[in-house]
Amino acid sequence: MGSRLRELGSGLGYRAELAGVVGEHAGRIDWLEVITEHYLFAPADLREELGELAGRFPVVPHGVEMSIGSAGEVDGVYLDALAALVDEIDAPWFSDHLCFTRTEDVLLGLLAPLPRTRDVARELGRKARRVQDAVGRPFLLENITYYVDLATPLTEAQFIAEVMEHCDCHLLLDLANLDINARNHGFDPLGFLDVIPVERVAQVHLAGGIDGVAGEMSLDSHGAAVPERVWELLDELLSRTAVPATLIERDQNFPDDPAELLADLDRARARLRRPLARDGVADGRA
Ligand SMILES: [Fe+2]
Repeated sequence: MGSRLRELGSGLGYRAELAGVVGEHAGRIDWLEVITEHYLFAPADLREELGELAGRFPVVPHGVEMSIGSAGEVDGVYLDALAALVDEIDAPWFSDHLCFTRTEDVLLGLLAPLPRTRDVARELGRKARRVQDAVGRPFLLENITYYVDLATPLTEAQFIAEVMEHCDCHLLLDLANLDINARNHGFDPLGFLDVIPVERVAQVHLAGGIDGVAGEMSLDSHGAAVPERVWELLDELLSRTAVPATLIERDQNFPDDPAELLADLDRARARLRRPLARDGVADGRA
């Protein structure tokens, strides 16, 4: 099983639109997550920018194009480049999604869910181990949102637990995605936490989405402040296990006033610093 990872604290997803916030409020940001593919085969000036960021913060590359769920092995050229990038910035870990983003010939342009069978989970676990070995740092896998739920033998939580059985990687648990999936597909998010190995969660994503799309659906827009429902899920998770790192994800609708983002960063940090709750009862709350 994976060992406990370095405590990074409360981080922010770095986007070009947030460069000013990161520059002016560095003292309120413990670490940064960057999108791997923005820098992987990038020109020298972008790699220099990444090097400067890594000189000021711990930086974690978060990928969207590994496509670990595609048939066959993960592309060796991609893995070599990722290993070099991770070494260059001395990243404490790297992450990508439990999904596929391409078929043999077609780039889908989205994070597509996988058939949730034990065979697929076993194969994903094998490939995740191989990726982690090739890159040489801890590999975290993230739960995605899905808007059509195909009838498959395993629930999403059972599928994730099964993948973790077959590798010693960690989980990046996106609590906004969990909240959205639970509401869109009518399952209990606390029951989800009962099933996944929460002690393997090394990082959390916190974000706001859009409710009321096409009727009752919610979307993971990453374009709003973190809603109370997601903070409650963080409290619930932290009542069950210690988590080394949280991250505020914002991909659009960047606020003119950074106060909202900074408040979310502070709130996450305060949660992480609270003593670990036991038996469902946290310090200072019922
Ligand atoms: Fe996420």
